Amino acid sequence: MLSFFTLLTFFWTVYGDGCRTSNNEVWCTGMNQSYFDNEFKTLMAMDNMTNIEAIHIKHGKIQNIGANAFRSCAGDANKQLKKLKSLDLSYNDIRSISGQAFHCMPTLNKLNLSHNMWDVQNASHTGVFTNLAQLQKLDLTNSLNTDYSGHLHVPKLSEILRKPKFESLQLLKLGSNKLEFISDFYQKTLCEMPALKNVILSENLLHNINLKVNQSCHYLLELMDFSWNNINFLPRSTLKDLDELQKSSKKLTLRIYHQQWICDCNIIDLHNWLKTTAINVTNKDHLRCYDGHNFNKTILKLTLEEMVCVKPEDSASAGNTGVIVVTVLLVIILIAILAAVYMHRSKIQACARSVYDPIRRGGGNDHVQYSSVESTPIA
Ligand SMILES: *[C@@H]1O[C@H](CO)[C@@H](O)[C@H](O)[C@H]1NC(C)=O
Ligand SMILES: *[C@@H]1O[C@H](CO)[C@@H](O)[C@H](O)[C@H]1NC(C)=O
Ligand SMILES: *[C@@H]1O[C@H](CO)[C@@H](O)[C@H](O)[C@H]1NC(C)=O
Ligand SMILES: *[C@@H]1O[C@H](CO)[C@@H](O)[C@H](O)[C@H]1NC(C)=O
Ligand SMILES: *[C@@H]1O[C@H](CO)[C@@H](O)[C@H](O)[C@H]1NC(C)=O
Ligand SMILES: *[C@@H]1O[C@H](CO)[C@@H](O)[C@H](O)[C@H]1NC(C)=O
Ligand SMILES: *[C@@H]1O[C@H](CO)[C@@H](O)[C@H](O)[C@H]1NC(C)=O
Repeated sequence: MLSFFTLLTFFWTVYGDGCRTSNNEVWCTGMNQSYFDNEFKTLMAMDNMTNIEAIHIKHGKIQNIGANAFRSCAGDANKQLKKLKSLDLSYNDIRSISGQAFHCMPTLNKLNLSHNMWDVQNASHTGVFTNLAQLQKLDLTNSLNTDYSGHLHVPKLSEILRKPKFESLQLLKLGSNKLEFISDFYQKTLCEMPALKNVILSENLLHNINLKVNQSCHYLLELMDFSWNNINFLPRSTLKDLDELQKSSKKLTLRIYHQQWICDCNIIDLHNWLKTTAINVTNKDHLRCYDGHNFNKTILKLTLEEMVCVKPEDSASAGNTGVIVVTVLLVIILIAILAAVYMHRSKIQACARSVYDPIRRGGGNDHVQYSSVESTPIA
């Protein structure tokens, strides 16, 4: 019994509170920063750790993943974690990740960084995911610090994702990060990830899908998930780009349900496209208008009469209406005056004569004077 406890104590001191190894996998939970930087590093530095195939570090409090945090292999390829296929770092409150953090695991297939608080926009280094040539799955679901607006993250995240050669990446999950746009990411990154099949961008704050597909790239895309975003409508150019992707991969599934669709005249292109596209649009029959006069109607069933743009009663047009009303009133008053003048023309003529005659009489003298001035020779 005593020896069992001694053994147990030895086990805990070597592998710590949270970590145990079995079947070439390391499992740790509830790890803190100090443990991660010291005890865990010592553990990972052991010679036989090169046999490890998976590391699961979950539900801890590790705010910073430093360079070579899992192992240092500088100048010695034998020190690499050559069998490591999966690294799970979900739910750890991770806020910063150094460049070369995942440098010594060249065979890694899956990297899970979901449910963290990464302040990616102030990362000092863009080489976070370098040396991961075999990576197939990258999970960044709810990974970013969303205490402030997600649009801040977009440029840096694009840079970081473009840095490595993700030749093997098939699944990229970027859902639940409050991302507000992703244009830069698409225009360049998609083309540079030739194996990419599934892109998940659900539960963000995207207003559009700015694809700008490059026709000289080859796309294998099978699933693009934009569900639960803030899209109002999709312009013709975007729909054309989506069809280009379908032409390239031949089996694209698109998730665009649960948006803030505005079903006015701008929705016509999407309505028509849904009827004809070869893309597998999930819940195609259940895409519903978000508000306005077509509230909760399905886009596919809208009639042309329903897809109209109602002129908004904004202040500018209200001002115009005022000007028009005043003009019309003035014209009516003018016509009324002219009509009155015409109808009473004889009275007015008589009245005018009585006023005009004395003037004419008085004016006679003036005329004489004027004539005299006129006839005065010019000196
Ligand atoms: C590494 O070696 C230690 C003893 O030296 C052993 O307890 C541990 O299980 C080994 N780990 C692996 C992954 O083989
Ligand atoms: C970190 O975890 C270890 C092991 O559980 C514990 O002994 C240590 O006090 C913790 N350190 C901090 C700073 O919480
Ligand atoms: C990143 O910058 C923000 C402010 O821009 C700051 O609040 C945050 O603490 C920084 N994060 C890190 C990990 O340095
Ligand atoms: C990443 O971890 C989360 C939470 O532990 C899990 O739900 C998710 O399926 C994992 N992602 C992948 C790609 O395995
Ligand atoms: C399209 O992709 C090709 C091949 O990768 C590249 O050379 C070209 O610059 C790209 N065009 C645009 C407009 O990005
Ligand atoms: C279309 O998508 C649905 C749901 O994502 C899937 O179950 C189905 O197999 C897909 N159909 C085709 C023809 O790819
Ligand atoms: C919209 O219509 C569907 C089907 O008729 C119904 O199930 C749903 O509750 C409606 N939603 C709202 C917000 O009214």
